[in-house]
Parts: sequence; C-alpha cells; structure tokens
Amino acid sequence: MKHKIYFIGAGPGSPEHLTLYGLKKLKESRYVFAPNIYRKTFQKYLKGKEVYEPFDFLFHEIVNLVNKFLEKSSIAFLLPGDETVFSPFQPFIDYFKQDCEVIPGVGVVNAASALLKKTLDLPNVANTIVLTSTRSFKAAFEDHDFMQFVKRDVTLVLYMNHIPLEELTKRLIPVMGENCPISILYKISLPEQEIISGTLKNICKKVKKDYFSSVKEPSMAMILIGYVLNKRAKKSSWDYRKKHIWDKRKK
Ligand SMILES: C[S@@+](CC[C@H](N)C(=O)[O-])C[C@H]1O[C@@H](n2cnc3c(N)ncnc32)[C@H](O)[C@@H]1O
Repeated sequence: MKHKIYFIGAGPGSPEHLTLYGLKKLKESRYVFAPNIYRKTFQKYLKGKEVYEPFDFLFHEIVNLVNKFLEKSSIAFLLPGDETVFSPFQPFIDYFKQDCEVIPGVGVVNAASALLKKTLDLPNVANTIVLTSTRSFKAAFEDHDFMQFVKRDVTLVLYMNHIPLEELTKRLIPVMGENCPISILYKISLPEQEIISGTLKNICKKVKKDYFSSVKEPSMAMILIGYVLNKRAKKSSWDYRKKHIWDKRKK
C-alpha cells in the first residue's frame, strides 16, 4: 500500500471532536505534525509516534521531512479545527495534492454554536453568517475592513481578533445596536474553557482578562455577534416547514 499524507481536521482541542475516520488515519501514521496544544490533549493517541511541531519549520524543511518519512509510513498533520477556514496548511495540500487526503473535522465555529446551543441563522433574524477575521494576512498582519460585512441581519463570527474589545464594540454599536448579543468563547473544549456572553453595551465590563493577545501563545478566543444568540426559534417554523415543504415532497 502506498503511504499517504493525511491532513486531519482535529477540532478545537479535545480529541473527542476527532472523526472516526480521522482517528483511524492518525492511528495508521507513524509521523505526526501536531501544533503544541494537541500534544497534551491528544497524548494518548500520539504515544509511540514521532511528533513534530509544524510551526518550528520552514516550508521546504517540512517538505523534505515528509518526503523522507513517506518511504516508511503515512504521515498525519493535525489541523486546528478544520481546513475549511483560516488554515495555514493549504500550501502543503497544494504541493502534495496527489499524495494527500484532507479529512474534515469540527471547526471552531461548529463547536461554538454547539456550546451556545444556537444555530447561527434564523428566519427573520439572520440569513447570512460571516466568518471573518479583523486582520488579514498580507506582507504582515494588516487591518482588514471587516466592517463592510457587518449588518443587523448578519451573524458575525470573528477569528483571530486583535482589536481591543472597547474599540471593537464602539465600531459595532452604530450598525448592530447596543443591545446586540455578543459571546466570547475562549479555549473551547480545553480545560481552561470560558464563555462570556452579554451585549455590545455591557460585554467590556464582564470581561476580566485579555483573551486576544497573541504575543506569547496563539489567541484562542472566538467572538460571535448577532441577534440569533438571544432569539428563541419560533415553534411555528417547524409546522410551517412540515406543511409547505416536507409534506409536499411525499405527494
Ligand atoms: C488559524 S484560526 C484556525 C481556525 C480553524 N481552521 C477552524 O476551522 O476553526 C485560529 C483562530 O481560531 C479560533 N480558535 C482556535 N481554536 C480555538 C478554541 N479552542 N477556542 C476558541 N477559539 C479557537 C481563534 O479565533 C483563533 O485565533
């Protein structure tokens, strides 16, 4: 059997979010590139494997290691969350296209929605969900004009926020309104997990530490903003769908 490179969506931190297929392929791989946070939480599954921190290497160094390892075994990369959004691993996936497989995982936004017990769209509240970051990756990190996507009927999901909370809420209030709900989810699925919820007006008072500094370690906080967070879904929306959509399909 030809060895392969598996890019496995590893979820927000806990191995419990790994898919069965991802786990199978991780078990088959003798070499693993795993960001530091997974070394601790995935300890049980990394036992006996050669584990490397991908962020210690340059692109060509990883390529050389992978080519060397491929002669002996399959290789797994544990990807934070899932490959769909804000993943730095795409250059490797493009490079090894024929020899690799990408395995989906639980994105941080999926885990956040589950923790809040909220779907991120609701009829007449929000039909659009914007996944974005306050900064963009150009030559260096530069400000990104995320405000162009901010609307009252949009749910905003912010990754890698670097704007101080006071300033962020000040920018958002004129568009979203001061009573707009906001939740900050810190280190989802890790022992330090915290969830702080409030409104754009009062969230700053509720937050006691800086969740967004990424100087010493990567910032592991996600922000969700939008009216879906405090609206209850109407019971009648189920019956409406049954009568007007699902029943018609049976005929
Ligand atoms: C490079 S992005 C990775 C996103 C990932 N590819 C995904 O599918 O969710 C890193 C950002 O994701 C969020 N993040 C990653 N892990 C997290 C966690 N365990 N709890 C909360 N936010 C997290 C933070 O906003 C962090 O700055």
